[in-house]
Amino acid sequence: MSYSCVGYMVVSRKEKFYSLQCSQCGILQDHSKGVSLCVDCKAPPDIFYSKPASLDFSQFRDVRLANYFPGLWSMWDVLPLHDPSNIVSLGEGGTPCIPLKNIGNKLGLKDLWAKLEYLNPTGSFKDRGTTVMLSAAKEFGLTRLVEDSSGNAGSSFASYASRGQLDASVFIPEHAPNAKRLQISFYGADVYPTSGTRDDVAQSAVDYAAENGLYYSSHNISPYFIEGTKTVAYELMLWSGNRPIDHMIFPVGNGSLIIGCWKGFKEVKESRNYDDAQPVTFPKLHAVQSHACNPIVSCWRGTQWDVSQVSNGIAGGIMVGTPPRGFQVLQVLEDTSGSAVSVSDGDIGTWQKLLAEEEGLFVEPTSAAAFAGLELLVADRTISKSDLTVVPITGFGLKDTKNLDVG
Ligand SMILES: Cc1ncc(COP(=O)(O)O)c(C=O)c1O
Ligand SMILES: [Zn+2]
Repeated sequence: MSYSCVGYMVVSRKEKFYSLQCSQCGILQDHSKGVSLCVDCKAPPDIFYSKPASLDFSQFRDVRLANYFPGLWSMWDVLPLHDPSNIVSLGEGGTPCIPLKNIGNKLGLKDLWAKLEYLNPTGSFKDRGTTVMLSAAKEFGLTRLVEDSSGNAGSSFASYASRGQLDASVFIPEHAPNAKRLQISFYGADVYPTSGTRDDVAQSAVDYAAENGLYYSSHNISPYFIEGTKTVAYELMLWSGNRPIDHMIFPVGNGSLIIGCWKGFKEVKESRNYDDAQPVTFPKLHAVQSHACNPIVSCWRGTQWDVSQVSNGIAGGIMVGTPPRGFQVLQVLEDTSGSAVSVSDGDIGTWQKLLAEEEGLFVEPTSAAAFAGLELLVADRTISKSDLTVVPITGFGLKDTKNLDVG
């Protein structure tokens, strides 16, 4: 059976069954009414497939090489949607990996690569999650949605809502970068700049949704969002071929990208169709946070953390004091033998400039934080000279220029 939708051909090779289960206690949740936290442990849900989510890797590889099904939805078989006519897509995914020779030389790394996630349609990796989250919302017949964001998820949400003809309200911090705020409202969404911490912004969105009978569709708790970000891992498995990736470095706020990647790598391993002849090894996944807000690093290193310690930092995407999926990030670090490091605003700014001057990459401060973290991981010998290391570049530089005095 084949379908045509939004300019793509997607093939349904089998019926997909999945359930929503609490990520902490495993209790089943009713997904016909949308996504909410577990009533018992207040943890967000995850998607579990009743059969292993299995991608026909050999066929997928051929398809990719023929460039027949571009983008994320070419992975239809491993995504939680039943009817392709509900897909809300802007051609996301399929981002390039480029070598970073100049930065690699500076750090003494022979095999350093960047996956250019900022080349997604709204300028950040968030589009991977949003396309799945809003396609699922459409499938459930939801039409009026509320989101909260530091800016990038909000602009992605507003864009895909417009594409899918859904009504979007987006809560952002009052000091969010102008470019992100403009981007959200230009797509036609209602924007609510909100005072207080990033956690206060999230609470305002929850309250607003409840008071107005709207659906709170937060990428921070949505399991559909994670299903979208997991496609980075599938793409990297195809990209790296026989050569295993040793390390990946992520800027981590809520952890949607690092958690999604680990889910993707695990699914590839479980996939019965993956080429058994090849040993499957996966990268160590490392989390980078900012000195201004580092709950995960504190927990990982056993140091004191309290949300009142959050201060203003230039990496706005990772200023999340109480990440609802924080315990999952810690699990990923443990499962992959990864680590967590914290970096200063000064080092983030230095790396933002270095990436521009040495590699021609203009990235936002949050994305540059990953490189400041990489430097620490090289210095403490967690990463060595010949290790294959991939850093996703999560957001485009012009989205957040506050620290550069030109915004
Ligand atoms: C550019 C950028 N990078 C990274 C992150 C962190 O995302 P997460 O930890 O949720 O994967 C964000 C979040 O807003 C972001 O905007
Ligand atoms: Zn639970």
